[in-house]
Amino acid sequence: DLIVGARRGSPLAVGYGPNENYLGSDSYALKSMTNKITYLEDNEFCIIKKDEVEFYDAEGKKVNKKILELSKDDQNYDKGDYKHFMAKEIDEQPTTIKNCVNEYIDKVNNTINIFNFPWKRDDINSILLIGCGTAYHSCLMAKYWLEQFTSVDVNVDIASEFRYRKNRFKKDCLYIFISQSGETADTYAALDLCKKNNVKTCSIVNVVESSIARDSDLVLPIYCGPEIGVASTKAYLGMLVAQLVLAKHWDKENKLNITFEDIKSIPNLVKESLKCENEILKIAKGISKKNDIYFIGRGLDYALAAEGALKLKEISYLHAEALAAGELKHGTLALIEDGTPVIVTASQVHLLDKTTSNVQEVKARGAFVIAVGDKNSHKLEKIADQFIRLPSAHEILSTIISIIPLQFIAYHVAKLNGESIDQPRNLAKSVTVE
Ligand code: AGP
Repeated sequence: DLIVGARRGSPLAVGYGPNENYLGSDSYALKSMTNKITYLEDNEFCIIKKDEVEFYDAEGKKVNKKILELSKDDQNYDKGDYKHFMAKEIDEQPTTIKNCVNEYIDKVNNTINIFNFPWKRDDINSILLIGCGTAYHSCLMAKYWLEQFTSVDVNVDIASEFRYRKNRFKKDCLYIFISQSGETADTYAALDLCKKNNVKTCSIVNVVESSIARDSDLVLPIYCGPEIGVASTKAYLGMLVAQLVLAKHWDKENKLNITFEDIKSIPNLVKESLKCENEILKIAKGISKKNDIYFIGRGLDYALAAEGALKLKEISYLHAEALAAGELKHGTLALIEDGTPVIVTASQVHLLDKTTSNVQEVKARGAFVIAVGDKNSHKLEKIADQFIRLPSAHEILSTIISIIPLQFIAYHVAKLNGESIDQPRNLAKSVTVE
């Protein structure tokens, strides 16, 4: 009847139950048993018995700590009629995105609900977006929006790279940390480094009680509800929407050319896009036995390709690679041969011709091309072997919804191959170690 826990670096949480108490790596691990949680700070330790928990600091002095009460969204811990959490989470996206949009957009006044922005916009001359994996991919896309439509310089960094580089910390830079779990060790370490250098920090997270959220100056939640499948789906869309809202919030000159009505239409566009699942079943069959699959795109679609390839790799274990379409001729084109699947998305009108000519290049080498577009992508549709048509929308929204078919491709390929979709080998949902 005794557990001793001590925290240094990775997170640690205590949960309280009836005549039993728990120790876990984060609130997710404990949420199915209790919604009452206490987080340990670095260097604190705790002594847990079934009816009592005591906390101490590094010197062994007793400390009183708050018990946080987390929201009880129990239904999200159940797969319901779904075979996998990933399938459920893909389908939930219209609802989770609606929640996110509703939280950020004041539908009556058409304004953005970010009231607690603690800095004057003029005090910020650059933004650095930092994350890992899917969160990093969401930054790659948001960079284009923020850069194009605000007057600030925007850069993107992988947390595990940022933390070991000699950085020049700038007082007029806003450091934004993106993380579904809010507990990723590398992202947290990057935030910690920024805190130690007294710069402005903001986090975009799903778990608002997480370490990253607790330690940032400003928190922008993505309101997705618990994401259980290791492959991130609804959180990716939530991260995109939160960053789009931030870009719109910043864009006082209205350069973004995206209206509140456009943003409010995202949940419905996502819902419409989910209808492509049946077509994807056929496509998945065609590629499930291939060894190498390439994802290509330009601009926003390159960022999207990176996420599409990661999704496929992590749950189907097939080799997938994302390329800026214009880079093909600099090396990778040599790998394209008869039947090599190439998946292309082209949501930006001004890049459509260029992307189409890259598709011609791979077709000429025998590639089997699967293209995602809308009713205006005639040229692409004509030369693709298979075409997935999504609803037409503002090009920023088109890129956002184009992830849906890519999520389905990853899911159905992994399912056809009998892989363990929600818990892929060698991976964890929260990467709390380096
Ligand atoms: C995505 O499908 C991943 N499993 C993974 O790349 C994830 O996005 C990454 O580990 C970052 O996690 P976070 O968003 O919780 O920080």
